[in-house]
Amino acid sequence: MNIFLKVLSVFLLLHTNLAQAAHDDITGKEKALLETNQAYTPSLGDIMIGIQLRHAKLWYSGLASNWKLAEYKLEEISEAFEDIKKYQPNFDGKPTAEMIVRITSEPVKKLEQAIKAKDQPAFIKSFDEMSNACNACHTVNGHDFISIQRPTAQPLTNQRFTLH
Ligand code: HEC
Repeated sequence: MNIFLKVLSVFLLLHTNLAQAAHDDITGKEKALLETNQAYTPSLGDIMIGIQLRHAKLWYSGLASNWKLAEYKLEEISEAFEDIKKYQPNFDGKPTAEMIVRITSEPVKKLEQAIKAKDQPAFIKSFDEMSNACNACHTVNGHDFISIQRPTAQPLTNQRFTLH
């Protein structure tokens, strides 16, 4: 073997080992990340904060007749309800997953219809019905001190609701 080939083979061996070590390191990191993700379960209170914000944004979308945004907000709220079913199916000994279906299905459906029809009076009526549903669930869960209403001021000023 000439010197050039010797150097090359040493280099290749070293390179393969280094690449393997880097690969092991990455998979180690990925594993740790995966374990962290699996360990994280959002609390019901955290999911509710997201719902609260979207509930307020839904209101201003409807008031501005921004029906695409309203549709999007309602979808986000529905997804959060799905998250509750997935991550917090029982809360404090109560079947949260079943309650979500029983209490929110009807108001969600009515809101969907109002938004689809671009019917603002129907939207306002079904929005209030949704807020009543939020409160009904809070009451059943012994949290009647958390009372939801129509928002009276925009929660954030960095998003425009009226587009035209
Ligand atoms: C399945 C029943 C249920 C429904 C439906 C429900 N909630 Fe809740 N909500 C709860 C429970 C239980 C808590 C208390 C959670 C805790 O203590 O961790 C809560 C807490 C909250 C909180 C307090 C969070 C905080 O940290 O300040 C807000 C705000 C809230 N909900 C908003 C809403 C809104 C808005 C809706 C309707 C769009 C809604 N919730 C629908 C059961 C429900």
